[in-house]
Amino acid sequence: MNKIFIVGNWKMNPQTSREAIHLLSSIKTRIENTKKVEVVICPPFVYLAGIGKKKSAKIRLGSQDCFWEEKVAFTGEVSSLMLKDLGCSYVIVGHSERRKYFHESDTMINKKLKSVLGQGLRPILCIDKVSQIKKDIKGIPEKKVKKIILAYEPIWAIGTGKACSFKQAKKFNLSIKRVLGKNHPVLYGGSVSSQNALGYIKEAQFQGLLIGGASLKPKEFVKVIELMA
Ligand code: 13P
Repeated sequence: MNKIFIVGNWKMNPQTSREAIHLLSSIKTRIENTKKVEVVICPPFVYLAGIGKKKSAKIRLGSQDCFWEEKVAFTGEVSSLMLKDLGCSYVIVGHSERRKYFHESDTMINKKLKSVLGQGLRPILCIDKVSQIKKDIKGIPEKKVKKIILAYEPIWAIGTGKACSFKQAKKFNLSIKRVLGKNHPVLYGGSVSSQNALGYIKEAQFQGLLIGGASLKPKEFVKVIELMA
């Protein structure tokens, strides 16, 4: 059976490394059964090393972004190679906040995907329109496309408490699968909580969840994980 992905995107939280370690410990000590679940935590870049050292074997490390080049002069950027070296297994690519606030285009996202895949890491490609997929995966061989985890995140549902209905989310899930194949892993993200989490898996048939706000609340986040188990 395919594992369910529960991915916590901490975004620009928490505000200090001490709090980050505390948040990780609160999650780590609560997690028991992860047999059927792949738990991934994506903290800000600056906490990756610390979280990587303190996490348990039940938690995988992910990054929220990366740059597409490997070296030379790109002030402020972090490469996929560096992320791999820090122990990351996953990289979120093309989150709507990056598309919106940092003007990331499909061409840039395409380069990022190629870089992440080139390092043998798994990208979590965020989209809110099915039409973005073909542009984002352009030129990537089919074998590598299979390694990309899709995440459907309707922009209006992010951080608003207005989660997408299971029916509508399922429609998008099926449309994505029409492009990538019926067994392709697709996650849902946008105001996920322990109240609605199971519905996205059972009713809307997603293979996991990309969670923002609720991933910063250890009890709530672990409750979602336990529901999957
Ligand atoms: P919320 O769960 O806070 O709505 O955020 C979703 C998200 O953007 C995860 O990447």
